[in-house]
Amino acid sequence: MRLRIAVLASSRGTNLQALIDAQEKDEIPTKIAVVISDNPKALALERAQKHQIPAITVVRQDFPTRELYEQEILDLINKYSCDLICLAGFMRILSPYFIGNSQIKIINIHPSLLPSFPGLDAQQQALDYGVKFSGCTVHFVDEGMDSGPIILQAVVPVLVDDTEETLSLRILAEEHRIYPEAIKLIAEGKVEVGARIARPPLHQ
Ligand code: GRF
Repeated sequence: MRLRIAVLASSRGTNLQALIDAQEKDEIPTKIAVVISDNPKALALERAQKHQIPAITVVRQDFPTRELYEQEILDLINKYSCDLICLAGFMRILSPYFIGNSQIKIINIHPSLLPSFPGLDAQQQALDYGVKFSGCTVHFVDEGMDSGPIILQAVVPVLVDDTEETLSLRILAEEHRIYPEAIKLIAEGKVEVGARIARPPLHQ
């Protein structure tokens, strides 16, 4: 049985593309059932359409309250009978209302080694701090900022002449590798979530 996924994305959608590619190569037992964006111009929507995946824009301004906005997204996710929500560059913080009312788990990909550098501009934060290694994290979403249980991480070196762009590209290549990998683990029922620890993040 294929895990039905809702992908939420706001912009270029390269992580979405990595999931589409992995699914089409049968590397992950999923069906991307719907792609939802808050931005009508998101390239992610075009990527979905090219692969015959329903692509829906839900604009915040069209709803009088954040709760009604988030409920519309939750209703769509239910309508498409999704089993998992994957945030892939979704630029809105989901409120406790969304998290509390989602009947399925939510995961996210973040371009740093959490818990270092949560929030926006994680790659620049890493450069400004002067760390020698950074990377990316796939984690469950809870009510905090990039603070839920970690599923997988990948490490990349930070080079002396790195710019935000070069570091971001190095990290992005790893994002495209570990996001499908994490979803595969979930689809195969191999991820157990406790209060803090998601297993197996350990090497298998
Ligand atoms: C990625 O760097 C991801 O880690 C972050 O937002 C960016 C989305 O990129 N959450 P893309 O839209 O998937 O290309």
